[in-house]
Amino acid sequence: SDSYSLLILPGDGIGPEVMTEVVKVIDWLQANRGLSFDISHGLVGGSSYDAHGTPLTDETMAKAQAVDAVLLGAVGGPKYDDLDFSVKPERGLLRLRKDMDLYANLRPAQCFDALADFSSLKRDVVAGLDILIVRELTSGVYFGEPRGIHADNNSDNEGGRVGINTQRYTSGEIRRVARSAFELARRRNNKVCSMEKANVMESGILWREEVQWVRDNEYPEVELTHMYADNGLMQLVRKPGQFDVILTDNLFGDLLSDAAAMLTGSLGMLPSASLGKPMANGRPKALYEPVHGSAPDIAGQGKANPIACILSFAMALRFSFDQGAAADALERAVEKVLADGVRTADLMGPEGGTPVSTSEMGDRIVAALAQA
Ligand code: NAD
Ligand code: IPM
Ligand code: MN
Repeated sequence: SDSYSLLILPGDGIGPEVMTEVVKVIDWLQANRGLSFDISHGLVGGSSYDAHGTPLTDETMAKAQAVDAVLLGAVGGPKYDDLDFSVKPERGLLRLRKDMDLYANLRPAQCFDALADFSSLKRDVVAGLDILIVRELTSGVYFGEPRGIHADNNSDNEGGRVGINTQRYTSGEIRRVARSAFELARRRNNKVCSMEKANVMESGILWREEVQWVRDNEYPEVELTHMYADNGLMQLVRKPGQFDVILTDNLFGDLLSDAAAMLTGSLGMLPSASLGKPMANGRPKALYEPVHGSAPDIAGQGKANPIACILSFAMALRFSFDQGAAADALERAVEKVLADGVRTADLMGPEGGTPVSTSEMGDRIVAALAQA
């Protein structure tokens, strides 16, 4: 069968720990399901800075552009807090997203039944939950110009400095990510809720108008509603079941997806896919990564939950490798292991129990895959 090229960038902190478990899954699929991956490894974030003085080398960037999919663990950590802004670990990840033009970040939040009691919200609020946040990922205040920290001595300004970031969206940037959200909604429950702050930001007014335009002209059968993002976040924790697809900008999407994580029981559960324009083979440029970070507080202790990273690879199987059946099987294996009561430390409920290590969680998921 076809061979797919995959670039693995484990990154920092728990990134390499959770990635080790994904590699077990890949190895198993190659040995037992006839899949074939052409895998290369690279550095990103602090680990790249330590080796090369930059959080992403041009070589690794070029490799990321050339492969069918990139799989990333996490970047960052306290060791790098005092680095110059331009070489901070996070800049490596942001460059990957920007240069690959990965404008649609899909962050599904699904509450597995076995975890409904582990959410910080009540079981009946989260049971059966299945929502999808579509976050714009290449623009907005993360990238807008002007930006920077400058001297500002012209006013009565204690400290004499000013920090600037600019929220900026073009109509084209809004329309293309809106299309992604509507396309995805069509394959789900046909509902999109778009979130901005059109009450205080012109970019929010434009966002609302352009999303509505795409809906009216191209997706009239999809139900579209609009919410101010502050209310939206409140609604997300009040009654998350009212949502199907949430479409939002780069910064609001970052906040909303971390909050959505707690609907599923743990930040260690949330995968993501960052998709760009189709390549020559028709599939999108793509990077897959868990929503969580490098978790310095638990790094190196074998405590990290590898499920977010494993489910991110399941998204790669589905969106980049045309392996929907393998993706389904992997998701069912995760569900089975959770139903069997296997828990990493982040999934310990009020009644406690003995957590398994990162490595054992990976082994159990591979074993469940083998039984399926
Ligand atoms: P974090 O997501 O790393 O951790 C937040 C909390 O969630 C911590 O208590 C952590 O232990 C827990 N947690 C996260 N993932 C977990 C997992 N898989 N299993 C169990 N528990 C998990 O966020 P932070 O502490 O604010 O950031 C730490 C570093 O990570 C920073 O440098 C930040 O910039 C970076 N970061 C990177 C990414 C990324 O690479 N995509 C995302 C978010 C944060
Ligand atoms: C995420 C992270 C990143 C973001 C950081 C590490 C650049 O928080 O992927 O959610 O803010 O987008
Ligand atoms: Mn985040």
